[in-house]
Amino acid sequence: MIDGDAIVGELESRRAAGDGRDALVAAAVRMIEGADEAYDWVGVYLLDGEELVLGPYVGKPTDHTRIPVGRGVCGTAVAQDRDLNVPDVHAIENYLACSLETASELVVLVRRADGSIAGQLDLDSHRRAAFGKRDERELRKVADWLGGLF
Ligand code: SME
Repeated sequence: MIDGDAIVGELESRRAAGDGRDALVAAAVRMIEGADEAYDWVGVYLLDGEELVLGPYVGKPTDHTRIPVGRGVCGTAVAQDRDLNVPDVHAIENYLACSLETASELVVLVRRADGSIAGQLDLDSHRRAAFGKRDERELRKVADWLGGLF
């Protein structure tokens, strides 16, 4: 089970040791992916104008390296300015399949101090309804910390 405070603590240590933003974002992705067996794909998308651009990720390569705001679960989260927890991706129309195995998806927005969206954490699972309130809460801690880097 994911422990957001533990991940943030490790990120703090790495920042104190001199790691820059790119290294910290990549480390966060790796630590999140390793936190729970149900997390099959974990990545960061950064918002660049009206597009989300794929940053570091762990999991199978995806065709969706650039996603327009409004498209898919990722783009919809930005368009609606909110986190999205989709228990069954096959039940929604506006979905961009990253992998045929993906059953559920969680997007947690990364916000700057002023509340504006810098990007998002995107998690996919092969299990249906893999993400619960605890995942949302713990990932929010990590996302909030990452937001301070932008
Ligand atoms: N499923 C996402 C696309 C990104 S991949 O999952 C990595 C979506 O619908 O936005």
